[in-house]
Amino acid sequence: MSDFIIALDQGTTSTRAILYNRELSPIASISEELPLSYPQAGWVEQDPEAIWQSVLHCIQQLLQQNGILPEQVAGLALTNQRETTLLWEKASGQTLYPAIVWQDRRTAEQCQALKQQHEASIRAKTGLLADPYFSASKLQWLLEQIPGARQRAETGELCFGTVDSFLLWRLTGGQEHATDASNASRTLLFDIHQQRWDPELLTLFQIPRAILPEVRDSAADFGHCSARLFGHPIPIISLLGDQQAALLGQACIQPGMGKSTYGTGCFVMVNTGGQALCSQHQLLSTVAWRIRGETCYALEGSIFMAGATVQWLRDKLGIIQQASDTEALAEGVDAQQTELLIPAFTGLGAPYWQPEVKAALFGLTRNSGKAELCAAALRSVAYQTQDLLLAMADDGIRIADLRVDGGMTVNRWFLQALADITQQAITPSQHSDATAFGTAFLAAWQLGWYPQLSDVASLWQGSAPFTPKLTKTQQQSCYHYWRTSIARLLVN
Ligand code: G3P
Repeated sequence: MSDFIIALDQGTTSTRAILYNRELSPIASISEELPLSYPQAGWVEQDPEAIWQSVLHCIQQLLQQNGILPEQVAGLALTNQRETTLLWEKASGQTLYPAIVWQDRRTAEQCQALKQQHEASIRAKTGLLADPYFSASKLQWLLEQIPGARQRAETGELCFGTVDSFLLWRLTGGQEHATDASNASRTLLFDIHQQRWDPELLTLFQIPRAILPEVRDSAADFGHCSARLFGHPIPIISLLGDQQAALLGQACIQPGMGKSTYGTGCFVMVNTGGQALCSQHQLLSTVAWRIRGETCYALEGSIFMAGATVQWLRDKLGIIQQASDTEALAEGVDAQQTELLIPAFTGLGAPYWQPEVKAALFGLTRNSGKAELCAAALRSVAYQTQDLLLAMADDGIRIADLRVDGGMTVNRWFLQALADITQQAITPSQHSDATAFGTAFLAAWQLGWYPQLSDVASLWQGSAPFTPKLTKTQQQSCYHYWRTSIARLLVN
């Protein structure tokens, strides 16, 4: 009897495999940290073999350490960091270049040049903006920079994929070159209304059609893991971008429901149902999921540095040993602190979209020390969340109950700062792993364990909400300081 689902969450800085039972309770998990490399200013890369090995290792360990036979696994559910771009050889499965990570800004100039003439049509078709964050300009760069790549792409020797497609290809031993509509919607090449690769965008970015994966529903038959990997051909039955998976995992299944996930970056997403909203305030429209051919859309605000800012405190400043140290260190630092960090380490995402801006620290005094820097770093994530919530409100969307998840949400100090700065109730999910849970639920639905997608609501549980302690006047003064400081960095 196949009684388990494995959810594999391949994120930017870690890979995790989680074992779920029929009740969708997490039974066990294995995770591995993954390094990034920064070969030049603005470049962010990752070793595809390290990604692949971490995936193999996590699944193998999960099975072995818990005495689970691969035959007992009804399905593998994949979720992943989005936009990160890979190119590999069909014949050997070998990649031609490191993965270019979503945070990479190397194509900023190229995107800037497209803005005036093409941004309106890019936006109308894809719901996105001409920004290096998305895959298209990264793929164009690869085809231009790797000798012979364009010609080999045209003759069908190469495959392009985001991380989901790459893993699917490797897991199925090269049998499947596919993606799902949520991941395709992040490439800047996919028309989210027509649900197809767009010929005009392919021409604009000079991408040969032959290298693109087939786009399927998010719950579908994605083939089987090659039997030599785990000893049994485990079926792969769901595939969802990580933020979309968290939206489902937070049971945001009705239009107007929204979540914010604090992983490497922070992504606020609101379900907009069957309608793709066209934001007037620099937010993105994207595919939440496509199921049985029906597309559910979402409005998204993307921030590039959330947990990654905490990593910076640890790895570059050395003021903490581990992320959890931030809670105690920030304790007692007043909300009206003068220190302000703008964490534009990889430019600014929504709603500013300024890839060239650099990080900055304002308001240092003789009293500024580790605690103040730490508090400023955590608060910077809350301020950016407020930027997104205000942009959404300007688009006519107010999230009544903001559900939050991701690594940073175990930090109660941060959650209180978030409630203070956004002046609204913040509800942490009891599943801090909403991403893995979302894709696992989709797999369970695909297996028929749950008849309705809305059944996810009965599995969702929130923890006690955090409510604002700061007065509106105090909040306004702090947020004003944030906005005026950011304005000093913006170009134009
Ligand atoms: O769009 C990038 C996003 O998918 C990365 O997610 O979890 O690695 O912060 P995460």
